Amino acid sequence: MILPIRAYGDPVLKKVAADIEPGHPGLEKLIADMFETMYEASGVGLAAPQVGQSVRLFIVDASPFAEDEDGKPTKDAHLKDFKRIFINPYIVEEEGEEWPFEEGCLSIPNIREEVIRQPKIVMQYQDENFEEHEETFEGFAARVIQHEHDHLDGVLFLDHLPALRRRLLQGKLRDISRGKTDAKYKMRFPG
Ligand code: NI
Repeated sequence: MILPIRAYGDPVLKKVAADIEPGHPGLEKLIADMFETMYEASGVGLAAPQVGQSVRLFIVDASPFAEDEDGKPTKDAHLKDFKRIFINPYIVEEEGEEWPFEEGCLSIPNIREEVIRQPKIVMQYQDENFEEHEETFEGFAARVIQHEHDHLDGVLFLDHLPALRRRLLQGKLRDISRGKTDAKYKMRFPG
């Protein structure tokens, strides 16, 4: 089932999400719905608060970037296996020289801004079976995870921008929260 994506201004996007216990009701369905919702919106990552669930879960799938339309490997062929479910994730370490990358967010359609983050992270997380994992990610994969992980703490990529830049975006953000956007996927607006 495709879920509406909560738009900028929805209070759920500012909340610190709660841990998930094994046996969490409806978890399997929530994960399936989140994948369907993310694919429909052509996103590479989606966090549970973005569909109104304030729990520590996000999903990523950058594997479509690994192949072109003819099924040939692209320059991002290393992303072929980058599909994951992260439950109760924890960034153990962030390292390397900060680099800028233009980020966007399904909750903030049509705004893309350069965000500075470190390029390498070590993550501890549980998968959908609550098996523990520790894994290192770099580059684009690390970037997607850092962005999604922020959502679980009520942080948006906008919060990383310089104050002046944020101020310049205020009008556009107000429009989004009032439903003035031409996003091609289902959204829910706070107003
Ligand atoms: Ni986002």
